[in-house]
Amino acid sequence: MVTYIEAASAPKKNTGAIRLYDTKTDFAGMHAACQLTARCLDELAAIVKPGVTTNAIDRFVFEFGMDNGALPATLNYRGYKYSVCTSINHVVCHGMPDDKPLREGDIVNIDVTYILDGWHGDSSRMYPVGPVKRAAERLMEVTYECLMRGISVVRPGVRTGAIGQAIQTYAEAERCSVVRDFCGHGVGQLFHDSPNILHYGRADEGPELKEGMIFTIEPMINLGKPHVKVLADGWTAVTRDRSLSAQYEHAVGVTADGCEIFTLSPGGLDRPGLPPLKG
Ligand code: MF3
Ligand code: CO
Ligand code: CO
Repeated sequence: MVTYIEAASAPKKNTGAIRLYDTKTDFAGMHAACQLTARCLDELAAIVKPGVTTNAIDRFVFEFGMDNGALPATLNYRGYKYSVCTSINHVVCHGMPDDKPLREGDIVNIDVTYILDGWHGDSSRMYPVGPVKRAAERLMEVTYECLMRGISVVRPGVRTGAIGQAIQTYAEAERCSVVRDFCGHGVGQLFHDSPNILHYGRADEGPELKEGMIFTIEPMINLGKPHVKVLADGWTAVTRDRSLSAQYEHAVGVTADGCEIFTLSPGGLDRPGLPPLKG
């Protein structure tokens, strides 16, 4: 059974109840945290290039947070030791920063969550490392379109399954596959909250969306088969067939007639196909 709870009177843990936030005050707090994350992701567009290490990206994300009064939510989260996830090529998600330089032709997902005044701003984008192959570019385009098609169906009265159906239908029509092992999630006062937002399924499945809900949509889309495995480090998820994987993530809040995308890029940089930046 699905239950909803006013966020103001909710216990500070995930009880399975779906928080309903105040669309004025709470959405303003969420917007501020998410815009800090979006600004960080914008800055990274000029930083990601061949030769840069993911450790350097990790340091940048940490420092940018410190400079702006925000803590990276992933740092010491369930034993995770970094300020960011950096998932390269066939890494599906939760790639850990290291000292290996990025190489021309790589595609990397960078996933940042800042906690600002108690609000969790969770978003990720793809970054091409120099020029990339057409197949990689197409995968990024398909994945971004999946995210935006998922967002486009969000409004009160539809079920979470409508998001999954919109994403799966498009991804599979483009001969790509949807990762089943990870999903979007309620977000806001908690990092990972109810409900789960599946990126596949049917419109008549899942809890009904209500005004005031806040959650992420973060489809992981593969060029090959959907199956993943987690490496011995306990975090890094890769495609079993080693095919390329991509992901984009926004945090959204349900409004009376649709949704607000909290993590939109102030610089218009949150989509694929932009020319490489100088800097
Ligand atoms: N930011 C990721 C998400 O979108 C979660 C990363 S958890 C970590 O939900 F521990 F792997 F960092
Ligand atoms: Co997320
Ligand atoms: Co994320």
